[in-house]
Amino acid sequence: MMKYRITLVSITSLIVSILIGMAFYEPNKDINTEPESQELYTIMRLLMIDIHTINEGIYTQNFDLIQTGAANINGHAPLADESRQLVMDTLGDRMAQFGEYDNLVHSRADSIRKAAQNRDMGKVLEQYRIVEQGCVNCHAAFQDEIRQARMQ
Ligand code: HEC
Repeated sequence: MMKYRITLVSITSLIVSILIGMAFYEPNKDINTEPESQELYTIMRLLMIDIHTINEGIYTQNFDLIQTGAANINGHAPLADESRQLVMDTLGDRMAQFGEYDNLVHSRADSIRKAAQNRDMGKVLEQYRIVEQGCVNCHAAFQDEIRQARMQ
């Protein structure tokens, strides 16, 4: 009987503390998991700065810089609605190809970051070339067209 009561008390207090915990739980607003969206043009200018950062890291053998630049590329802001609409209207069903270039740059930028974390310059350079090629391939396919659509 005593044993039963202790169990009941502990279960009740467990439930009460969970409820109190839920009442006080607030998502941490300092950690910005969803960065504010930006127009495509702004994202691109920032990507170029990130590439500069990586370059500086490569030439000064500063792996922290490489990591920062690569993480920024992978974590670039989401596309603002206006730009997304413009890109969709301009590219139509070629949107999938656009998305593939974007994915490639994201995943390889993350590989650069990991290689920099491991202080592996050979691997950094290998992945860097793939990222650079990914940027240029998407530009060759779509930059002029989207730029012109934006200027109209
Ligand atoms: C998925 C396609 C895509 C990828 C990947 C991409 N870009 Fe772009 N980029 C564009 C498009 C489209 C434009 C034209 C935007 C406009 O003018 O509105 C552009 C424009 C630019 C510009 C020119 C901005 C100006 O001043 O006119 C720079 C710089 C740039 N991108 C840098 C990069 C870098 C660096 C990378 C790789 C880390 C990259 N881009 C990857 C699509 C892409």
